[in-house]
Amino acid sequence: MIVTTKQLFQTAYGKYAIGAYNINNLEQTMGLFRGNLDSQAPFIIQISSGARKYTHKLMLEGLIRSADEIFPEAIFAVHLDHGDEQTCYDCIESGFYSSVMIDASHEEFDKNIEITRRVVEAAHARGIVVEAELGKLGGVEEHVKVDEADAKLTNPDQAKEFVERTGVDSLACAIGTSHGAFKFSGSQGLHFDVLEEIQKRLPGFPLVMHGSSSVPQEEVARINAAGGNLKGARGVDENEFARAATLGVTKVNIDTDGRLVWTRVHREFFRDTPEKFDLRDPGKIFMAEYAKFIAHKNEKLGSAGTLEDVRRLAK
Ligand code: G3H
Ligand code: 13P
Ligand code: ZN
Repeated sequence: MIVTTKQLFQTAYGKYAIGAYNINNLEQTMGLFRGNLDSQAPFIIQISSGARKYTHKLMLEGLIRSADEIFPEAIFAVHLDHGDEQTCYDCIESGFYSSVMIDASHEEFDKNIEITRRVVEAAHARGIVVEAELGKLGGVEEHVKVDEADAKLTNPDQAKEFVERTGVDSLACAIGTSHGAFKFSGSQGLHFDVLEEIQKRLPGFPLVMHGSSSVPQEEVARINAAGGNLKGARGVDENEFARAATLGVTKVNIDTDGRLVWTRVHREFFRDTPEKFDLRDPGKIFMAEYAKFIAHKNEKLGSAGTLEDVRRLAK
């Protein structure tokens, strides 16, 4: 059952965070639904602009509609991840998405507000909620390249002004994370001090943490042992999700970790069985491993076991 992102946020705020997982293909979709049902968790499916272009934007919609029929107990929202203004309008008009993210974080403060405000007006007119971003994460995003040195944490006073002036429904804050597998070079971690200040100014308002993959070291070691080259990859400590949730983080974005599961499964499969060439063989292993991974993440996020509560409140 597709619900609004807002409904999920209202149930979760302050208690746990909802996992927001990107999909690109059918194996990820099947593993995602299974993993969330195995752990009895609501979830958010994220579709990036890159995913929309990978085959065809309608292909992912078709996969999600089918998964909804195959797994009627699942409760989830469908979200555009890191959209530009035009892509947001396309998703709003499609009637399929529960929420969109307008990412104008590379623009100056006032320009970011102006663009976000326009998207909020269009989205709210259709009952769709909007996430925006303030501050700059490190790493590389779909259409934004930000040097590590240029990464800027969200300014809490600006966060309050931004939310008031845009009418946005949730805010992605830069609190030290970055996208991809190489997040921290030294002993950096999450800036809980910044998060606390933001929550003080915006009590009850859902915050979003991008770049939240934990890049498990065991996974990296297995990939490297099977021919990969991901030396020095590091991520967020997943044991910190619970504290972030009490400080208003209601949505946690995870994509890279799923890609690592895919890479490990396929590298090991072809290393160990070089005579095989049926794509379904590693695909089956991946779907099962991805489901296990999702269930584990939901335990860490605190969303595991909340599905029945969400169902009761959604009625
Ligand atoms: O934040 C970006 C997400 O990991 C999506 O990645 O743009 O390569 O699909 P993508
Ligand atoms: P990761 O690269 O840490 O998985 O972050 C994903 C993300 O923020 C998607 O918007
Ligand atoms: Zn992101």
